[in-house]
Amino acid sequence: MLTDIERLTDAQFLRLFQAKRFLVTGATGNVGRHIVNRLLENGYLVRALTRDAKRANLPRYVEVVEGDLTRPETFERALAGVAGLHLITIGGDDYTPLENGDDIVQLARWEGVQRISVLSDGRTGSVEKAVMASDVDWTILQPVDLMSNTLGWIKSIKSANVVREPYGRMAKTLIHEADVAAVAAKILSDGGHSRKTLKLTGSEVLTIPDKIRAISAATGKPITYVEVSEEHTRQSMRELGIDEDVIDYVVAWNSNPPVEGRAVTKSVQQVIGRPPLSFTHWVREHAPLFM
Ligand SMILES: NC(=O)c1ccc[n+]([C@@H]2O[C@H](COP(=O)([O-])OP(=O)(O)OC[C@H]3O[C@@H](n4cnc5c(N)ncnc54)[C@H](OP(=O)(O)O)[C@@H]3O)[C@@H](O)[C@H]2O)c1
Repeated sequence: MLTDIERLTDAQFLRLFQAKRFLVTGATGNVGRHIVNRLLENGYLVRALTRDAKRANLPRYVEVVEGDLTRPETFERALAGVAGLHLITIGGDDYTPLENGDDIVQLARWEGVQRISVLSDGRTGSVEKAVMASDVDWTILQPVDLMSNTLGWIKSIKSANVVREPYGRMAKTLIHEADVAAVAAKILSDGGHSRKTLKLTGSEVLTIPDKIRAISAATGKPITYVEVSEEHTRQSMRELGIDEDVIDYVVAWNSNPPVEGRAVTKSVQQVIGRPPLSFTHWVREHAPLFM
């Protein structure tokens, strides 16, 4: 996607040097890429953390820095001079929660970081505990199911026009990853909502068949839903190398969602002043991927 920042002249870009700088971790992820773009479009400087700069594929004016959240010494320098920090809570591709939140937050404080947003999955892990115990302006963002999780259906829809999932009758909230990012970027740049945990949902409560109907409508493909057992889902996640604790958490969340998984909240509208994007909107953006 070509963002506005890609169209800036070098002279215009130089003016950005007056701007505040933010460090975005998880910058190559589904939510992080949107945060980077929002901050750039709002005229801020962005430093992006990744374990592999060669694969990062971020916009031209992003300062890409290599580092690993599980080894704070690798990204200490990336914290210098940043006004705000966006943190993820995972430390690997298997979604294992980070265990060194204290070290990360302490380093950020030493470097003078004053504001931290945390993209949390709802568990109070080491990162969440560390920011809550700190004196920074922290905001914990707890999105429910990200619409981008639907990308996990691409393979089975492309190959067989089928979706295999458990708990088909469970109606749940979901949120566009761009809305989560818009909330994070707004809070990082403008402040507010300090020392709060915001439960972020979209404005719809949908079942799996509802989502499949939306994808069918956008792609013109007749997609069948096959309800599978919980064990089938557990096994699929094991095959992806996902840790048993994480699997338990995902299964529990999907089989018996917490209140924010069943009912919409007004948090997105309250922070960014517009309603959340719909699933139909997300599907229109991503339809070619399912064809
Ligand atoms: N999926 C959901 O429904 C959901 C719901 C609620 C909350 N969350 C939260 O979302 C966050 C994940 O964000 P996402 O879904 O946007 O990510 P994602 O698309 O799954 O991408 C994962 C990101 O994590 C980075 N990463 C992984 N291990 C790392 C490490 N050791 N050091 C540095 N970076 C590392 C990756 O960076 P590189 O590969 O470039 O190094 C990548 O940017 C987590 O904090 C999770 O708690 C997700």
